[in-house]
Amino acid sequence: MKAVILHGGQGTRLRPLTHTGPKQLIKIAGKPISQWVLEQIRDAGIHDIVVVLGDNMPNKVIEYYGDGSRLGVNITYVYQGKARGLADAVYRVKDVVKDDKFIVYLGDNIVNYDLRKFASFDSNASILLARVQDPSRFGVAVIKEGKVVKLVEKPKERISDLAIVGVYGFDENVFDIIEGLRPSWRGELEITDAIQGLIDRGLRVSYEIVDGWWKDTGTPRDILEANAILLDTRVSRHIAEDAKVINSSIEGRVFVGGNSVIENSTIRGPTYIGGNTIIKNSYIGPYTSIGDGCEIENSEIEHSVILDNVKIMGGVYLMDSLIGNNVTIRKGNRWNMLIVGENSWLTL
Ligand code: TTP
Repeated sequence: MKAVILHGGQGTRLRPLTHTGPKQLIKIAGKPISQWVLEQIRDAGIHDIVVVLGDNMPNKVIEYYGDGSRLGVNITYVYQGKARGLADAVYRVKDVVKDDKFIVYLGDNIVNYDLRKFASFDSNASILLARVQDPSRFGVAVIKEGKVVKLVEKPKERISDLAIVGVYGFDENVFDIIEGLRPSWRGELEITDAIQGLIDRGLRVSYEIVDGWWKDTGTPRDILEANAILLDTRVSRHIAEDAKVINSSIEGRVFVGGNSVIENSTIRGPTYIGGNTIIKNSYIGPYTSIGDGCEIENSEIEHSVILDNVKIMGGVYLMDSLIGNNVTIRKGNRWNMLIVGENSWLTL
């Protein structure tokens, strides 16, 4: 079986961070979001992975993952280019998956579910669902006698509280249906229309319900929440042998990468600090991810995601913030929800 990771899309809600690359490559808790997805697929025993690329700097994805061997998988790349919808993205893999069943995982979603179980579906398609408080914000599935009978986008009436999560399984029937689809009002070929098409043709669509957490990382707030979940559930205390901790307190589940220096500082977990990063005279609070090659001095950071090669110095206080690669922030100020795109220079 092959697994398909959708790595296209426009990522408009994550601008300016997506001006310099696809959102799925944003690193949280030490890895790009799509790498969390890829490793979950690999750990479920699926090693043939198809990555569908969009038109937002697809080369960055190929540069990062290569042929997949570094991560123990074989990657085939397929181009979608412009974001014409999830069903359009799925159609692009037709010649690669041939007649095999396959699973599709949105590269910006993180779902805590046993993929081995999900991938063993014996129907024509399967979808992953999660119970939600507010179904009107989601696409939902109506279930009868153990199968999906109807999908409704953002229902006005509460016909189901089971939202569609970004993981699907299909057999080759889906390609036929997609060929007959028309773009929706937003100009995209919708995956919900494709699945409804399978149901209308009398084919069987089964489902599984996620009992744990799941997160779609479409907005800055979502990225911060996904960061908190991953730090809580996937990061354990580890201080690299060649990291230097001088006159500092490292409390709880804190990961410190190779060759990093922590001096006169307090680091409170759960927190991830990458390699070759220097933190001096600072407080790094819980639920913070700091990338590789950063320099943080005389500052306080909490509940934030700081990407690679960022310099923050001179009495800066950041809370709930998302800071792109190669950003420099100098001079003190207090910030909540500061979002800064790659390669920026701020004197606050
Ligand atoms: P979305 O988050 O729905 O769309 P988007 O990435 O264009 O973001 P925004 O709404 O902020 O502009 O996409 C869900 C996932 O599917 C995401 O991982 C991107 C991927 N995708 C594709 O690969 N191709 C597509 O045509 C679309 C629409 C999304």
